[in-house]
Amino acid sequence: MSATKLKILKGYDFHCHFRRPVVKTAVELTAECFCGAVAMGNTDPPIAIADDALLYEREIRAALPFGCAFQPIMTIMLTKMTTPQIVIDAARRGIKVVKYIPEGVSVNSKESVALEKLSDYFPVLEAMQENDMVFSGHWESLHDSKGRELEELDREEAAIPFLDKVVKTFPTLRIVAEHASTKKLIDYVRQSPLNLRATLTMHHALLTFCNVCSEPGVITNPYNYCKPIAKTEEDRQAVERAMVSGDPHFFPGSDMAPHPLSAKQKIPPVAGIFCPGKIFVPLMLEIFLANNALQNLSNFYENFGAEFYGLPKSLESLELTQEDWTVPPEYDGIVPFMAGQTLHWKVAD
Ligand code: DOR
Ligand code: ZN
Ligand code: ZN
Repeated sequence: MSATKLKILKGYDFHCHFRRPVVKTAVELTAECFCGAVAMGNTDPPIAIADDALLYEREIRAALPFGCAFQPIMTIMLTKMTTPQIVIDAARRGIKVVKYIPEGVSVNSKESVALEKLSDYFPVLEAMQENDMVFSGHWESLHDSKGRELEELDREEAAIPFLDKVVKTFPTLRIVAEHASTKKLIDYVRQSPLNLRATLTMHHALLTFCNVCSEPGVITNPYNYCKPIAKTEEDRQAVERAMVSGDPHFFPGSDMAPHPLSAKQKIPPVAGIFCPGKIFVPLMLEIFLANNALQNLSNFYENFGAEFYGLPKSLESLELTQEDWTVPPEYDGIVPFMAGQTLHWKVAD
């Protein structure tokens, strides 16, 4: 391809964490490249009811540059306290998404519901289905079917039976498997009906376990450490192939998770990779180009997720130029994904 410039419509980021104390920076960096984003509710304390979500939306909107049309898509967390009434109230007040992280599996999930207990909350999922909400989940299990603790590498696959139960029980509930990182989950989503989709990150399309750990439990690069952890080369290739495939089951969700240096440098580090749009979008473009799949880029980035969520397409475009630039060592004290490395496309200012 000889083009040195490319104009595309802005898409949505279907998985973001706008976290204190860098809400403003995280929101600004996201709004540069996306027309809207799902603001995940696993804050501390969690976004548990509509009032929390609407207050959080105000904080996000206050961080936007004047006149910016960016659309925050708000969530409430499924916690042990969630009732069908809480979901009905949230839906009536414009909340579109219920966020799920099984208890103890990832950041800020201690008040959440364990995977093994999820079926106790099926009346809550029923209310989501009836009120046309999206159920967006982090599908990892800490234990195997015999209750033995699992290595991080095996946790996503172990959650598939729980996801399958939800998919089979709620045939019209819109369900998202966030940050799919294994061939097993990708294959499961691909053969599923279209009420189940998966979001994909750039880091799972680019990293394998050896870019994170020297052996299980020994993290050598905390800035590449997230949950679910990056896996084998076969898994990485499955993520990359799904991304460029043109299959509407898959759309972007960066899982942009800012954590301060102190939290990333402790042992073990907190999980989370900070991949804001100006890194995410050039990496995405490079992956589509490397796979000769530019014809599928706009569906992945602009269309599939927006259609699934029932969101309007953006009127704003984004210009990319083919030029080398170096990812800065930090944004507002947060070390980004690929810090110090050279990318070959740049989002025009
Ligand atoms: O690495 C992660 N960080 N994975 C998650 O599931 C949560 C996220 C966060 O909230 O920081
Ligand atoms: Zn997650
Ligand atoms: Zn996340």
